[in-house]
Amino acid sequence: MWERRGGHVDVTEPGRAPSSAGAADFLARFDGDLEAAIAALRAAAGTGTPATTAPIPTPRRPARPRSGRALIDVTDLRKTYTVGRQKIQALDGVSLTIDEGEFVALVGASGSGKSTLLQLIGGLDKPSAGRIVVDGADIGRMRDAKLSTFRNSTIGFVFQFFYLQPFLQLVTNTEVPGMFAGTKRGPRREHALSLIDEVGLTERAKHRPREMSGGQMQRAAIARALLNRPKLLLADEPTGNLDSVTGATIMDLFEQIRDESGTTVVMVTHDEEMAARADRTIRLRDGLIVPQEVPA
Ligand SMILES: Nc1ncnc2c1ncn2[C@@H]1O[C@H](COP(=O)(O)OP(=O)(O)O)[C@@H](O)[C@H]1O
Ligand SMILES: [Mg+2]
Repeated sequence: MWERRGGHVDVTEPGRAPSSAGAADFLARFDGDLEAAIAALRAAAGTGTPATTAPIPTPRRPARPRSGRALIDVTDLRKTYTVGRQKIQALDGVSLTIDEGEFVALVGASGSGKSTLLQLIGGLDKPSAGRIVVDGADIGRMRDAKLSTFRNSTIGFVFQFFYLQPFLQLVTNTEVPGMFAGTKRGPRREHALSLIDEVGLTERAKHRPREMSGGQMQRAAIARALLNRPKLLLADEPTGNLDSVTGATIMDLFEQIRDESGTTVVMVTHDEEMAARADRTIRLRDGLIVPQEVPA
């Protein structure tokens, strides 16, 4: 699957890692669109959701004031999947607004439409009906080439299974989105190393994913997602493969990212403990948003 070929593009350092041809070939198949490649891997791997554990109550901090500047504006969004003769209404008319600098948790039972909503907001799939505006752009109507550029520059993605390239060192894994954004090699590497430092992995910069723990791999995936300085970070079950202590450190990191760069974070989770760390929770049930109970 990752076979070597002659005349490979070296995506690591000169004279190193001949197997890097695998990465170049793989990404070339997706025309350099990392997110499309990840979506394909994700589909191939399936997206099994682990059994829900009993929620541990976490005290909620006082609500942070919202910025009032919408980064995401979704109106009457619908998504129907057709499987054979069966139609599955994954989203059945969802409207929501998420502000710049908000950290939002999307929660709901398995099959409630969380991943579908996140993928549509991230422009990884097209809606059946409705409107999705992200950073002023009507992404549901954008052409694929433009959408791919938009995604690369505006959105970072983090997934449950990390999707790091096993044959690349952490620093090179982190640099991948910059390779297609036209960033020069020197500054790209420098920025990757500073992000690796920010996520606390400096000692691991030259390591490959298999030498790292799950929490470290997720940190690395987050560093990679931040490389193009996205305004929006989308995370689908980012703690789904981590224990709750490690999961909490990932929540610390999301808070840090929000606070230091004003990045908007939208995280899908079915873990109430993790969701409680967000500024706001949006609940989905059967493809619809559950109305919030208004405190008296
Ligand atoms: N690619 C797909 N093809 C067909 N049905 C799908 C696809 N993706 C999701 N679904 C269905 O849509 C519904 C919502 O799925 P999903 O958004 O993955 O939910 P969640 O992330 O909340 O578990 C489920 O019934 C699921 O089986
Ligand atoms: Mg899901």
